[in-house]
Order: sequence, then C-alpha cells, then structure tokens
Amino acid sequence: MRRILVTGGAGFIGSHFVRYLIETTDDEVVNLDALKYAGNLANLRAVAAHPRYRFARGDVTDPEAVAAALAGVDAVVNFAAETHVDRSLMEAGSFIATDVYGTYVLLEAARRAEVQRFVQVSTDEVYGSVESGSSRESDPLDPRSPYAASKAGGDLKARAYFSTYGLPVCITRGSNTFGPNQYPEKVIPLFITNAIDDQPLPLYGDGQNVRDWLYVRDHCAAIALVLERGHPGELYNVGAGNERRNIEVTERILAELGKPRSLVRFVPDRPGHDRRYSLDCTKIRALGWAPQHVFEEALATTVRWYVENEDWWRPLKSGEWAAYYRRQYGERLARSRPL
Ligand code: DAU
Repeated sequence: MRRILVTGGAGFIGSHFVRYLIETTDDEVVNLDALKYAGNLANLRAVAAHPRYRFARGDVTDPEAVAAALAGVDAVVNFAAETHVDRSLMEAGSFIATDVYGTYVLLEAARRAEVQRFVQVSTDEVYGSVESGSSRESDPLDPRSPYAASKAGGDLKARAYFSTYGLPVCITRGSNTFGPNQYPEKVIPLFITNAIDDQPLPLYGDGQNVRDWLYVRDHCAAIALVLERGHPGELYNVGAGNERRNIEVTERILAELGKPRSLVRFVPDRPGHDRRYSLDCTKIRALGWAPQHVFEEALATTVRWYVENEDWWRPLKSGEWAAYYRRQYGERLARSRPL
C-alpha cells in the first residue's frame, strides 16, 4: 500500500482523482488543499469518511504545511493551481504564487523527503496556440497568457528537479477537461448553468477557437497510469483528440437542454486568445492509456449532472462568483451581438 499526497484535491480534477485512487487502488490518500474559491469539500463527500482518505487544509506555498502533509508519503501528485485564464488577465500574482512558487516549495520538500515519484499536472497551454499540426512533448514552450506562463514555470521547475537532483518527476500536459464538479467559470459549466437559467452564453470573439476536450475520468486514468508506470524525467501529453470549435460545443449544450440558440451572445474576445490547442498523444498511448469516453456522450452526462445537482452549483453562483461575473462579463455583454 502506497501513501499518495494529492495537492489541490478539493478542486475539480483533483477531487475526481482522489476518488479515482480510493476506488481503484488500495492507496492511502492525503489531500492537501487550501480551500480557495474553487476548492470544495462537497466534491469529496463520497470518500470523506473512508479509512484510506485524510484531508489536511494547507497551502502549497507554506513549507510547514507541506512538510507535515508529506510525512510517510511515497508519491506526490500536484494539482494545486490557479487555473482560470480570464482571472490571470485580471490579476496574475496569485498564479505566480501558487503555480510557480508553490510548485517549488513542494518539489523542495519532496526532494528532502525522498519521495519515489512526483507527478506534476501541467497543461497543453504551455505550448501556446497551435495553428496546424499537433504539439509533441519535445516542442518548445510558448505560453501566451499569464496563467499559461505560470504553469510553464512550474512545469520547468519540476523538470529541473529531475535534471539537477534526480527527483523522479513525471509531467502530464492535459487538454481542456470537463465533467461534473467543475467550477462554473470554465466555459462548459458556465454555459450549462447559464442556459438552465435562460441567461446569455457569452461566446468570445467569433466562436471558432478550437479546444481538445477530455472527460475528467479519462484524464484521471492517464495521471494514475503515469503515477504507476511513467518514466522518471518524462513528459506525457494527455488529450482525447476531441477537437471542437467553441460554437459547436455551445450548440450541443443548448440542444441537450432544449434551449434556444438566441441565448448565444458574441462578446468582445479574450485578449491574446489562443486559437487552437492540439496534442500528439503517442507517448501516453504507448504507455497503455486510451480515452474511454465519447465526447458527445460525456457532454450529455455532464449536462445531466448539472441539471440534477443544482444544490452543488447554485450556492457557488453568488458572492465571489457574482462579483467576478459582473467584472468579466458586464461590459462585454453590453457590447454583445446575437448569433
Ligand atoms: O487547455 C487546458 C486548459 O483548459 C487548462 O490548463 C486551464 O486550466 C483551463 O482553464 C482551460 O483553459 P481555457 O482557457 O481553454 O478554458 P475556458 O473554459 O476558460 O475556455 C474554453 C474556450 O471557451 C476558450 O476558447 C475561451 C472560450 N470561452 C470561455 C469562457 C469562460 C468563451 O467563449 N466564453 C467564456 O465565457
């Protein structure tokens, strides 16, 4: 039995990963999470009382909290991050603090504790916009938003700890992930919950930007495989090959909910908006991973989950979220045009 430290385990992908490990392995899981705006213990109700699960509240930027959480730990999986591109355009300091400095604190503590494996959960956004073809792990990094630049910083720090100290680091670079429990600032849960309430869906620019959609369970399976069998020092792209234009995803959400296309509003674009991401996933597939979910079916499942779990997301769409929403979309919606 291994003891795994999962950081950011109360967030979207992190909480699915904690549940995935508890369900599919006999690992002990320690979840270190600062419970910032997107961290939510409601995501972990199913495992909260499980004998192999323990929650520790703490920030990855706090060396004492990290050292305490690392006691007896065999491996670390670092999900802790500020993740939303639009927020990074308003305020980038917290991204540098968590995604770069926090990763460094964790790496340093993991090195001292001599952990056997460190998985850094990175993102396809480190490659920047990909006009044609697909990014390989050996491609140069070209992060273009403050968020992506911070994730690239953490990614490079993790690699440096392998090269310099031999810390057995693996890095995953995942694509756009979706599913239940995603905070309603990301496009899919935002559009689903807005559409349920007959509120406008603010589509940036011309709606033609392309993202490669990955169901959260498939993403967790890939990270678990890398934790298990990844080669130290290696990078692994994780994408399911579901490249879709934003307008297509939007129309599918509306169709699933039986809502009119008139809810779509084209709003002024995100500054520096990456046009397309695309990953070559030969390496992770060679390790033995393949996505198990069909995009359209997984999107339908996700829509149903939000319809059936209003008690999860309604409380979130007030307070901090509402202030953010006004700031992000108020002016934009005033300048919007219909489909
Ligand atoms: O690619 C992986 C990345 O995917 C992760 O590393 C990030 O943490 C995650 O936030 C996500 O980044 P994106 O910027 O691609 O995700 P987001 O859901 O914010 O936007 C997806 C697309 O939808 C993007 O082209 C911008 C567009 N969009 C987004 C929002 C929030 C809109 O048109 N309107 C919106 O209101």
